Amino acid sequence: MKNFLLACVFLALASSFASAFDPSPLQDFCVAIDDPLHGVGSNVTAVNVQQIPGLNTLGISAARIDFAPYGQNPPHTHPRATEILVVLEGTLLVGFVTSNPNNTLISKVLNKGDVFVFPIGLIHFQFNIGKTNAIAIAALSSQNPGVITIANAVFGSDPAIDPGFLARAFQLDKYVVKGLQAKFWIDGN
Ligand SMILES: *[C@@H]1O[C@H](CO)[C@@H](O)[C@H](O)[C@H]1NC(C)=O
Ligand SMILES: *[C@@H]1O[C@H](CO)[C@@H](O)[C@H](O)[C@H]1NC(C)=O
Repeated sequence: MKNFLLACVFLALASSFASAFDPSPLQDFCVAIDDPLHGVGSNVTAVNVQQIPGLNTLGISAARIDFAPYGQNPPHTHPRATEILVVLEGTLLVGFVTSNPNNTLISKVLNKGDVFVFPIGLIHFQFNIGKTNAIAIAALSSQNPGVITIANAVFGSDPAIDPGFLARAFQLDKYVVKGLQAKFWIDGN
């Protein structure tokens, strides 16, 4: 009986460790494939559990990002994954911002073959500062990393967030906010 109880305690601990390791939800929304980001100059091709069902439960995925000259992948976060980026072609200025209160920008210029890590949940971006196309491959520590593109989420939400509220939050004129909210925010990454 004592051994049985010990075994139960051990199993309970083991299962709590297992669930503590990855408490994240597995579903959010379907990330687009080959969806061109008109205006920002990059295309993100996701390779996650939506494209490869065999990734289910494995906690890993990938993406390819193609940049036009001076194209960018705008500020976004992955709520469920850390990302490691490898530059295959071109020169990218990349960076992420640490959480409050410091909001430190950690950034670097990457050339072909260079690698950079964006920690889970932090706002990050990539910018092709070269005159030629750039290509990068990202590996992400979730089968379903999710994407929150900051401008889209804040100014392109449906329904819109109250413009007066956003004007005060972002220290902008209400008409600037309304102008931003009237734009078409493409969810490309
Ligand atoms: C992104 O995709 C569009 C549509 O397929 C294509 O016209 C454009 O050249 C692509 N851009 C890059 C940088 O690959
Ligand atoms: C934030 O900045 C303070 C003061 O420079 C430093 O002591 C602290 O370690 C920083 N925190 C993080 C999370 O970087």
